[in-house]
Order: sequence, then structure tokens, then C-alpha cells
Amino acid sequence: MSTVGILTGGGDAPGLNAVIRAIVRRSLPRGHRLVGIRHGWRGLLERETVPLDRDAVSGILHRGGTILGTSRTNPYKSPDTARLVEENVSALGLDALVAIGGEDTLGVAAKLSKAGHRIVGVPKTIDNDLSGTDTTFGFDTAVSIATEAIDRLHSTAESHDRVIVCEVMGRHAGWIALHSGMAGGADHILVPERPIDLEAVCAGIARRRARGLAFSIIVAAEGASLPEGGVTADAGRDAFGHVKLGGIGARLAAEIERRTGFETRSVQLGHVQRGGTPTAFDRWLGSRYGLLAADMVHEGRFGMMAAYRGGVFEPVPLADAVAALKTVPPELIDLAATLFA
Ligand code: F6P
Repeated sequence: MSTVGILTGGGDAPGLNAVIRAIVRRSLPRGHRLVGIRHGWRGLLERETVPLDRDAVSGILHRGGTILGTSRTNPYKSPDTARLVEENVSALGLDALVAIGGEDTLGVAAKLSKAGHRIVGVPKTIDNDLSGTDTTFGFDTAVSIATEAIDRLHSTAESHDRVIVCEVMGRHAGWIALHSGMAGGADHILVPERPIDLEAVCAGIARRRARGLAFSIIVAAEGASLPEGGVTADAGRDAFGHVKLGGIGARLAAEIERRTGFETRSVQLGHVQRGGTPTAFDRWLGSRYGLLAADMVHEGRFGMMAAYRGGVFEPVPLADAVAALKTVPPELIDLAATLFA
């Protein structure tokens, strides 16, 4: 019997509770004791835990967010907290730890693994920008929410002969923009991977109008940038050095209206894309990640991340998974552009 810690770190994502529930339900019959660590790595620093039994994970599958809470705490920001986080793994009597998170959370997990701790990673981010796995849970829900918003924006843009810029999440990678833009029939999709060519966007809008289509929908990832740079919400940075993005949509709308004279509005979907109940796919995907993570712990497959590749759930080296982000390749950006009206 082992004592297994579970933590959720970084931005929340729909499906997290499905992962937690699956780990607990798979591990309890094997005689393991599950300990929830509150608020990501902060809970490990502060030894803030909660027991996870069958009742604790009952009725959570459909709930968004994470019953454990999360944070963007980086224990490796200082030598003292780096030492403390490692001491507390032992102090809490954890035989193993499952870290559910994105690039930052799993980066910390990889360091703990390298330091000799028994760690299993589970990939989590609505951005779907983690290497080593095809799809992260949360991504499908974010794309579904964004697509529904884009559908709604079509009717109001058409009614007012307007251009509407819909800003979606996606810090370093434009997967949400690419998938929701294609699903929603956007006329332009702007991603962090390619500097925005505003002249080409405005020319495309004008060509549509010349053909009698007096409205346009543009989907822009928050991490997309103009040649002079991106747009941040403020000068702050989080514990992992990330700026707070937000506002490129409004900047683009103002510039498009100035250049074309066409009425232009913008919508920033923000955290709506991360909230609420997961789609059926994300509930299933999260459950499968959790089941694999539980098996990896039981079989002693540490230093690995549960992955979903080519339809197969399998462990991959944690260090490889966090080595580089998975960004949208140029050929997919160009392929999506062939669908622009
Ligand atoms: O990493 C996922 C994500 O949703 C990004 O798309 C976004 O830029 C970031 O988190 C927002 O972080 P926070 O919720 O801390 O503002």
C-alpha cells in the first residue's frame, strides 16, 4: 500500500475533476491511500492536504475547475522553497506524487523527478501546447465554447455589416484559434506562431465586401502579435515569468476600423473558455489520463507523463514532454487559410 499525493497546478481546465476521480477510483481498490494537495505546488509548500476517498470524488465528473484548487506557485523560484518542497514530499509521507498540469507545473515535476522523487505527470492545458501528447483535456471544451461564441458573433456581425474580432486564449500556441476558427468559419485566423499581416487582413475584408459579404469574423489568439509586438493586460508577470496577455482583439479592431472605415468590434472570451462543465470528450479523456496515471503509479513507472498518442494511452518521459512546446506548424496555418471565404 502506498500513499499517493495528487495536485493540480497552473490554469484550471475542464476535465481536471475527471482525472482526480479516475485516479482515486482506480487506486483505492489496490489498497493505496490518496492525499489531495491543495492549490498546486503551494499546498505542498504549506502542507495543505485533504483526504481523497470515494466520497470525496463522488459527483465531480461533470464539474469544471478542480476540487483541489490550483495556483501558479513556482517552488523553484528560490532555493529555500525548492528545498522545502522536496522535504515536504517526505514529511507528508508521500510514496508517490501525481502532478496534473501544463508546461510550468510539469516543469517543476520534472525537477522533482530528477531529484529522485517518484513523480507521474498528467498533461493539462486548454492551450493543447504540450509536447508528447496529441490532445490535452480541456482543449475540446475551450474550442467548443469559442466556436459557439463565433457562431453567435456571425449573426450580429451580419445584421450590422460589421467586422468582429474574437480573441481566444492561447499564450504561445494558436491551437484554440485554429480549431475554433475553422469550426466557426472564420474569415481570418491569427495565431502566435505567425506575425499578423494587417494589410492582408484588411484586403481580405475589402474583397468580401466587394462580393457583397458586408461582414467578417476574425479569430485571434491572445498571444498573436503585430510586427511591433503583442498586447498585454498589464506589466505584471506570474511566478513562471509569463506576462498577462489580453487585448490584441481590441487593438486589431481599432486598427481595422481606422484602415478600412468599416465598423469593427471586438470580443475577448477570456476565462469563459476555461469555465463550466467539460464536454463529454474531455470527461472521457480526463478519465483515461487518470486511469493511466494510476496504473503508472501502481507499476512504478515514475519520471513519466501519461500521454495520448495515435489513439493509444501510454507513458512518455516527463523530461521529453516539457522540453519544448507544441506549436501550430506553418502548413496547418496555410491549410486553414484555404477555407477563408
Ligand atoms: O495556460 C492556459 C491559459 O488559459 C492561457 O491560455 C492563458 O494565457 C493563461 O492560462 C491565463 O492564465 P491566468 O488564468 O493565470 O490568468
